[in-house]
Amino acid sequence: MAAWREGTREDPGAAREAHVGRFEVKARDGRARVGALSTAHGVVTTPTLLPVINPNLRTIEPREMWDKYGIEMLITNSYIIWKHERLREHALEHGVHHLLDYPGAIMTDSGTFQAYVYGDVEVGVEEIVTFQRDIGVDVATMLDVFTRPDMTRDEVHEAVVETTQRAEASLAAAGSTMLNGPIQGGLHPDLRRMSARGMAAHPFSVHPIGGIVPVMEQQRYADLARVMLASAPELPPDRPVHMFGCGHPMLFPMLIALGADLFDSAAYALFARDGRLLTPTGTVHLADLREWPVLMPCVAALTPETVRKMEDDERMVVLSRFNLEVTLAELAACRQAVHEGRIWERAERRSHAHPALREAFLWLSTSPARGTAPIPAAEHLLMSDRAAASDTSPDRGHWESAWDWVVGAQNTPGQGALRWAGEDTFVRPAVVASRRRLHRAWRPASEDGAVVILHGAPGPWRDRVGTHVTRAYAANPDLEVLVLSPIGLVPWSFEDLQPFAHVEGPEWLWRRPVDHAWVRREMARLHLGHRHFVTVNLRAESVGEAFDAALLDAGLQPRVAPNQEGLADVELVLLRAQAVDKSMLELNLERSVATEFVGSATFVMSSTGRVRNVRDSRGRHILSPRLGNGGLSLTDEGALVLHALGLEEDAAPATVTVSEDAVPFVGAGRNVMHGFILHASTQLRPGITCLVLGPTGDLIAHGVAQCTSEEALAMRKGIAVRVRGGLQPSS
Ligand code: GUN
Repeated sequence: MAAWREGTREDPGAAREAHVGRFEVKARDGRARVGALSTAHGVVTTPTLLPVINPNLRTIEPREMWDKYGIEMLITNSYIIWKHERLREHALEHGVHHLLDYPGAIMTDSGTFQAYVYGDVEVGVEEIVTFQRDIGVDVATMLDVFTRPDMTRDEVHEAVVETTQRAEASLAAAGSTMLNGPIQGGLHPDLRRMSARGMAAHPFSVHPIGGIVPVMEQQRYADLARVMLASAPELPPDRPVHMFGCGHPMLFPMLIALGADLFDSAAYALFARDGRLLTPTGTVHLADLREWPVLMPCVAALTPETVRKMEDDERMVVLSRFNLEVTLAELAACRQAVHEGRIWERAERRSHAHPALREAFLWLSTSPARGTAPIPAAEHLLMSDRAAASDTSPDRGHWESAWDWVVGAQNTPGQGALRWAGEDTFVRPAVVASRRRLHRAWRPASEDGAVVILHGAPGPWRDRVGTHVTRAYAANPDLEVLVLSPIGLVPWSFEDLQPFAHVEGPEWLWRRPVDHAWVRREMARLHLGHRHFVTVNLRAESVGEAFDAALLDAGLQPRVAPNQEGLADVELVLLRAQAVDKSMLELNLERSVATEFVGSATFVMSSTGRVRNVRDSRGRHILSPRLGNGGLSLTDEGALVLHALGLEEDAAPATVTVSEDAVPFVGAGRNVMHGFILHASTQLRPGITCLVLGPTGDLIAHGVAQCTSEEALAMRKGIAVRVRGGLQPSS
């Protein structure tokens, strides 16, 4: 039956001793991360699922999991091994890897789950950790106190306190073995936070979120989302987050988007036992199937009917393989989504798989986001949700800051189009992040003057109406032109900025009638609240005439003639204004500083009429537009000019200060690695341009941050800043 040959995959090499226990983020998408956890039995790529192996009852051999399925880590139960003399003696003598015949990393659980199921366990807190260390596990688990949803608040509180109190002795017993520090707290967000803070204060290697099995069994997915959002923001970013007992692929995208790195579950085998199949969109019964819901390699040559007719044992193995293969495929797809910056989109799509999952997703993307400036469709979502949930909840402020934790880690501007998928699109964290950034950083150039709003058609707007805009500005230098995109109002300078300029969706998204009340609110967010505005429909038969009519309506001059002298000068003024506006957004500069920085810049243009280089008044190449997303890149000279301005930290580009030993490397253009950072300014977040300083504050490089400021200080491995230019080349 086995289609694999033992030993077809090489055993893993141990990670470098100094690296064992370290967790590195290789790629990220908001709070979702593709990571690498170093263990003495190889480097484990996350997010991943640790299949549960019952040492007494193996459905799929651990060796096959390694050889055939490429599974890098599994979990087994140390309490079961400890209780059975034969297993215990074997494990103590030859180690747990030998007992299971598995060369990869092994995590063990402690018996807490048995205590939850059977009432109690006979093993001591230190005893079980010592045992796990002695049998050579890669990651052990302390004996935490399971919190059930039906416990009273006092009981949950007591369990959280007791678990936290056991941390120190457990860590001492673990010695150099990596240890899981589970987070408990039932359904009480404040107790979850308390547990997370208490456990985070101890040097655990991994933090599982515990007590969630009954929550998942009862399909209380909104509660699960709340548990995650209460716990994860409190945990140190350099430790993987593990979802204890969670193995349904339907839940992976949402939990990964909220920061989950590890999953474990016996579901693949347990479900198989009673004829149930896992799919990424739910569970199905073999009895109901004429066709496979997804065609997995292990059933490619079989029909459901042939599997139904198999002997029980054989059928269980086939279904276990099916469940495992589905699980692995979904995790691979989630990792790919993180690489592509589309994990939230995947969670959004997946949320339609089950009403309770949909409820969870809507709660996530609307309730905590109430403080977020909404767009009309999102406003509708927020309103309907507001009616359903209690606005007076004492947790509201916490949910908002947990939502900020998600939004603040988004990489904006991102790459590629914002693919519209209905109303959910408007509350995606990356959209919220882009809007917040615009509203926070941008200020108009003049105090007054009318506003013209272009609406009705998608970009590229420069190609569509660029010359009309130039001619309108030529006649009215105080004019403010804005574009109405389906995700908000943006100043003309950002006509090519992702995601505003890259919404991929039906034409009618742009054709919707202008909602004047909403436009007023959008203008207020752009600090243009008191200004008079007129609109120009870009679908008008003659956009030029519509433009002139709007200008006249606002008491302004119509566009100048197309051959009017001096139009090239106005184009130059607009390009400078764009460089100033984008510097405000990208480099966190106040308008006056951005204006000084850009000065009377000149521009090197590409053959397609787009800016390639920006040179300041002294001819120094200070900026280059980023291809494809409307962002800006700082150049070496630009970094030097900005640094020489001596700006205050809160009105300057993000900075990272590195230790002395990193200076020769980073100064020569190597990336800033975690572990060498002394300070990071609070505005640091993935994707933002930053200056890299030496310990005495001198500028040594500039680049693009890969992390938030908390991560910059906490992480120990991986790239913190991708350096674009080293400014102290070694002599
Ligand atoms: N397995 C499933 N849930 C839990 C939990 O809360 N604690 C431990 N230790 N193991 C679990």
